[in-house]
Amino acid sequence: MSTPPLDPHYPVAHLRPPRNWVNDPNGLVFHDGYYHVSYQYNPYGATHANLHWGHFRSPDLLSWEPLPIALSPTPGGVDGDGCFSGNAVTDGDRLVAFYSAHLVARSPQHQPVTCAVSHNGGTTFRPRGELLIPELPEGCTMYRDPYVWRDVDGWRMLVGAALADGRAATLLYDSPDLETWTYRGPFVARHPEPIGDTLELTGEGWECPQYLPAAGGQAALIFSTWTEPTGPMRVAALIGEEQDGHFKAGAPVWADHGPDCYAPALLRAPGGRWLLWGWSWEARDQAWAVAGGWAGVLTVPREIHVGGDGTLRQRPATELLALRGERTVQAEGTTHGPEPVQLGSVGRAFDLTARLEPTGTAGLRLLTTPDGSEYLDIRLDPDAGELVVDRDHASLDTRAHGGAYRMPCPTGQPVDLRMVVDHSIAEVFLTSTGQVLTLRFYPTGQGAWRLQARTAPGTRLRYVVDAWELHPLVIKTPTAGAAEQY
Ligand code: FRU
Repeated sequence: MSTPPLDPHYPVAHLRPPRNWVNDPNGLVFHDGYYHVSYQYNPYGATHANLHWGHFRSPDLLSWEPLPIALSPTPGGVDGDGCFSGNAVTDGDRLVAFYSAHLVARSPQHQPVTCAVSHNGGTTFRPRGELLIPELPEGCTMYRDPYVWRDVDGWRMLVGAALADGRAATLLYDSPDLETWTYRGPFVARHPEPIGDTLELTGEGWECPQYLPAAGGQAALIFSTWTEPTGPMRVAALIGEEQDGHFKAGAPVWADHGPDCYAPALLRAPGGRWLLWGWSWEARDQAWAVAGGWAGVLTVPREIHVGGDGTLRQRPATELLALRGERTVQAEGTTHGPEPVQLGSVGRAFDLTARLEPTGTAGLRLLTTPDGSEYLDIRLDPDAGELVVDRDHASLDTRAHGGAYRMPCPTGQPVDLRMVVDHSIAEVFLTSTGQVLTLRFYPTGQGAWRLQARTAPGTRLRYVVDAWELHPLVIKTPTAGAAEQY
């Protein structure tokens, strides 16, 4: 079994195998007492190629057991060049995984749907061997990523698409038995339009559609925006309701305000709870990741729902509280500046809560070198009504990406934050609004990390900040069948 690399940027409280390339979470399902998390995985290197479905399962979201690779491309088969993304459903004693079959010779943008079945709790899957839905509907210029769910009277499927008329779409199918699928037309199709209050557009195509059905309120359609020639962009959602096979929704909103979350996927957990994991890609030069032998990580599992006010709300899964260890910061006070207030030291993986009440621009700084030249800033800008996460100085290594990212933040009331930081990933949750911003950063400093509270001139900040060490996930020793692939 390979062990995780001794790499200062390797996350320990986030799920991924010890080596190689990871992208989208796939096949998320609760079956027979276990949460199953598969993911796009290249067993041969740290680049996006040779895509298989790696596979973990967990009874509690804290300890994870690597299972054998769930799906592998069949040489000469319908998925010979890759088992691309999709999801899985539980049906009696069966787990059925639906995925996008990739063959370069077919077309770079047409990955038809196929499936594989497991009768042993996901230990092994038997691929169908032929396509389940061979043809793509007329007028599609991109087609992939099935999402299947059980509805009142049967099964339904969405597939991500781009249409020749310039609209991005999710296409709707239904089936009485998971075997025979009937195409019902676009569930939603939209020309590119701005997301939230930003100028960024919803893209030419949508990958990895996910459907969060209404639970007494509104439903959410989450999708990953894709545009030629850049490809994957960001993640957005439509909130609305279904009427006769069409999803009626308002303006698109962000599903994550950060630059480094893509292809998030849903899991329907027991008790009506919905969980979501995203793929957090590397935000550094590819050669750096390849030299380290790994790339990509899954976000923490997040509880997600549509609030009574019609907004998409996320927070870390409750179980993650059990990863909290020693409380290393417990600070409370008021500062007028101009000197920053030292709040205490944190490890390279920590869970933080903060209540901030600023009269102007103020926030927290995570310093990652002793001389303070390298830092990640989390700033409240009440004039703009935004929370800003700024990584322009977060790495002295020029191969790390910079940029400042924003999410709306109500003013005139205390701001409650939760941050899960793990070596090279920060997930910043605005507790009051349920919004989240994910980004990667690559500190180079060798010493202890420190937290400060800071204010702009003339600003007063009242703060309560607590931070706990974050314990690593427990990754079990893989079973014999899984060990050599892991
Ligand atoms: C999203 C995506 C999917 C595709 C998979 C291939 O990141 O491009 O659309 O199925 O990744 O790895």
